[in-house]
Amino acid sequence: MVFPEYRPRRMRQNENFRAMIRETRLAPEQLVYPLFVMPGKGKKEEVSSMPGVFRLSVDQLKQEAKDCLALGVRSVILFGLPEKKDAVGSGAHAKNGIVQQAIKELKNTAPEMTVITDVCLCEYTDHGHCGCLVGKEVDNDATLELLAKTALSHAQAGADMVAPSDMMDGRVSEIRSTLDENDFHNVPIMAYSVKYASAFYGPFRDAADCAPQFGDRRSYQMDPANSREALREATLDVDEGADILMVKPAVAYLDIISRLRDEFDLPIAAYHVSGEYAMIKAAAAKGWIDEQRVMAETLLSIRRAGADIILTYFAKDMARLLRG
Ligand code: PBG
Repeated sequence: MVFPEYRPRRMRQNENFRAMIRETRLAPEQLVYPLFVMPGKGKKEEVSSMPGVFRLSVDQLKQEAKDCLALGVRSVILFGLPEKKDAVGSGAHAKNGIVQQAIKELKNTAPEMTVITDVCLCEYTDHGHCGCLVGKEVDNDATLELLAKTALSHAQAGADMVAPSDMMDGRVSEIRSTLDENDFHNVPIMAYSVKYASAFYGPFRDAADCAPQFGDRRSYQMDPANSREALREATLDVDEGADILMVKPAVAYLDIISRLRDEFDLPIAAYHVSGEYAMIKAAAAKGWIDEQRVMAETLLSIRRAGADIILTYFAKDMARLLRG
C-alpha cells in the first residue's frame, strides 16, 4: 500500500461528492425570524445597531409575513414595544396589547405562518427588568402569575406557540398549567431554558427599548462560566413540560448546544442573537469579511452543534441564499 493509505481529499474533489457526504444541512423551515412590533400606522424604522432589521407597525406585518413565506420561512417570533410601560408590565398581557394585535393581524392575513411569542416582561416594565420587583430584586413567584397571564393572552389572541424568556424559576410549569386549564393544551412551550446573562443582547435592547434602568440581569440569567448548570436548567424545563429547549446566545455557547443535544431528546433551538448578527453586519460593512459566507458558515455551525431550530435575524437572507 502506498502512502498515504487513506486520502480524505478523494471525497472532496468535486461538489457532487461533497454534497453527497455533507453531514449537516440548513433549510428555511428550520429558521425563525424575529419581528419587533410597534404602535402606529405605516411605520417601518430601521434599528441603528441592526442594519436590515426594522420595527414595524401592525399594518406592515402582512407584507412581512408574505415575504417570509415566499422564501420558505414559516415561523416568526414576536417582540412588542408597548405604548406605555409600568412597574408590573401590564402591557404584556393587555387584551389589546401590541403583541396581541400583531398575533391577530398575522393569523388573519397570513394563516399559514406559525406565530411564536416571546413571553417576558422586560419590554413592558418601566424599570426594564424581566419581572415585577420587591425593592431592587425581581420577585420570582409574583412574576410567575404575570408571565402565565401573558402567555394565556397570547394563546387567546391566536399564538401557535409561546416562548418564555424571563428565566424565572418555575415559569414553564406555571404557564403549562394555565394554558391547560384554559383548553390550550395544544399550544407548545419553547422554553428559553439556558439563557446566559450576555453582552450579546446589546443591540436587541436598543431595538426593544428594554435595557434595565438599574443593575443587570445576572440574578436571573445564567453565568456564562457554567455548563453543568445548563443541564440542570434544561432538566427542570423538561420536567415542567417544555416542548422545545432553547440555548441563547448561540455561537459563544456551541458547547452548550452540543451537550443539550447529547443529553436530551427534545428538539433544541438556538437563538443567534442581536449582537452576533450586528458583529457580522459591521465587519461586512467595513469590507473585512464576506457577509453571506460568514452568515451561512455561522448558521451551519449552530446546526452542526446540534440545534434543530435557529432563531435568527438572518432568516430571510439565509433562505434567499439557500434558494440560490
Ligand atoms: C427578553 C429577551 C431578550 C432577548 C430575547 N428576549 C433580551 C434580554 O434578555 O435582555 C435577546 C435577543 C437578542 O439579543 O437578539 N427577555
